[in-house]
Amino acid sequence: MKLNSKDLLSFAEVDADEVNGMIGLAIQLKEDLKRGRERLLLKNRSMAMIFEKPSTRTRISFETGMHQMGGHAINMTPSEMQLSRGETIQDTARTLSRYVDVVMMRIFDHSMLEALAENATIPVINGLSDSYHPCQTLADLMTIRENKNRLNGLKVGWVGDGNNVCNSLIYGCSKVGMDISIATPREFQPIQQVVREAGRFVDVEIMTDPAMAVRDADVVMTDTFSSIHNTDPNRIKRFLPKYQVSESLMCNAREDAIFMHCLPAKRGEEVTAGVIDGPRSVVWDEAENRLHSQKALLAAMLDARV
Ligand code: CP
Ligand code: NVA
Repeated sequence: MKLNSKDLLSFAEVDADEVNGMIGLAIQLKEDLKRGRERLLLKNRSMAMIFEKPSTRTRISFETGMHQMGGHAINMTPSEMQLSRGETIQDTARTLSRYVDVVMMRIFDHSMLEALAENATIPVINGLSDSYHPCQTLADLMTIRENKNRLNGLKVGWVGDGNNVCNSLIYGCSKVGMDISIATPREFQPIQQVVREAGRFVDVEIMTDPAMAVRDADVVMTDTFSSIHNTDPNRIKRFLPKYQVSESLMCNAREDAIFMHCLPAKRGEEVTAGVIDGPRSVVWDEAENRLHSQKALLAAMLDARV
């Protein structure tokens, strides 16, 4: 499998066949790993990872994934690189392209990532920017597929901040035929262009009523009220208590609805402990699936023989 797009920056780049293909491969790789079957799909391939922001899941799942496929990952922060002394992102892209096969970067400013991708001859993966988190979306779609055995025709209810995770998720839903309703305070709505583009393929509803957003939803999702790039300490007051995913809010969703959260979570803020630690929560599968889905993504991007 080879992806049409060189890069994965927002999730707009991939089509339904590619998404389903990667999920299929990810499920296969998960099974292989559990059975102890070695899959050295990226033997001797290298990935540079650059983290401008903290990370637990993204860093460890990518590095472990490359290792499991026989490749190698190099982890850096911009402060350790000449980027911190004024070397441009363009020259960094050109240099990295001469050493490694793929770059993954977690960054504040999304336009810097676009500049990296434009100037690199190798694939660039967004490991989270202020605007998008496409790797999370791929793992989330895989997790929904595993739990519901399908994607097409389902409904997602998103409650809370219309943030980077939400923006990529909207694109993701539009690729696989899932409707999405988003309840968020007016000033924290997702990117309008994303909503418009996705709305051509599925229903994308933006509202302020959490109960309505999760009504009859198959999946209820939220994320922190304060992302790494948010600096206003009063921000979470705009969300509480109305936008907290609680046991009573979950009652509006379908009886078999699952709860998802990209993590890290703040219990008592965006979600109650009862929900995230309760029987409908699949957050640990979701976190695990970052590993399997990113292995599939890397294999697809690097055109590995599977
Ligand atoms: N969900 C996610 O991206 O987690 P990290 O910030 O720990 O990488
Ligand atoms: N929206 C969160 C996601 C963290 C994985 C953030 O950007 O901090």
